[in-house]
Amino acid sequence: MKTQFDEILIEEKEIRARVSELAAQLSEDYRDRDPLLVCVLKGAVFFMADLVREITISCELDFMAVSSYGSATDSSGVVRILKDLDANIEGRNVIIVEDIIDTGLTISYLMKNLRARNPASVEVCTLLTKPTRRKADVNCRYVGFEVPDQFVIGYGLDYREDYRNLRFIAALPEEDSR
Ligand code: IMP
Ligand code: MG
Repeated sequence: MKTQFDEILIEEKEIRARVSELAAQLSEDYRDRDPLLVCVLKGAVFFMADLVREITISCELDFMAVSSYGSATDSSGVVRILKDLDANIEGRNVIIVEDIIDTGLTISYLMKNLRARNPASVEVCTLLTKPTRRKADVNCRYVGFEVPDQFVIGYGLDYREDYRNLRFIAALPEEDSR
C-alpha cells in the first residue's frame, strides 16, 4: 500500500467535523423514535462507528452485506445480499448508513428491499455522493460530502479490498487502477 497520495480529497479533520454535524442532525430528527442504523458492510464501517458515537439519543445498530460490483470500479446493477439484518424492522425507523452513492443502483435496491418489510420509515445517510454518475434516482436525506467523478479510497472505501484503513479520503492514483 502506498502512503503518499497526490490527491487527498477530504482530510481526517474535515471528516470528523462533518460526521459530528450529521450526528447532531440525526439526534434532533430522530428524538424519541429509537432509530435502527443499518451499516452497509464493509465500506461504511468506520463512518458508522464514528457517527453513532456522536449520536446523543438512544439508537440500535444492525449490519448488512451486499455485493454489487461486476468489476472493481463499476457497478453492475445486480445486487446480492451476502448478510441480511438480524433485526425485524417492521414498524422501525431505519437509517441506512452507506459509504458512497455512485450510480445509485445499490441503494435503490436496498431501499426497495427494506421498504417491503414494512418499516415505519427508511432514510439514507451516506458519507459521500458522486451525483454525476447517477443511473437511479435516489432520495438521500443525509449526505456528508459530494466528490467528483473519480474513484475514491480511504476511511472504509476500498480498491480491491486495499486502502480501507486510510484516515482520509483520496483519489485512487491512476497508476494503481488496472
Ligand atoms: P452504486 O451502486 O454504483 O451506487 O455503488 C455503490 C457501492 O459501490 C458503494 O457502496 C461502494 O462500495 C462502491 N463504490 C462506488 N464508488 C466507489 C469509489 O469511488 N470508491 C470505492 N468504492 C466505490
Ligand atoms: Mg459499499
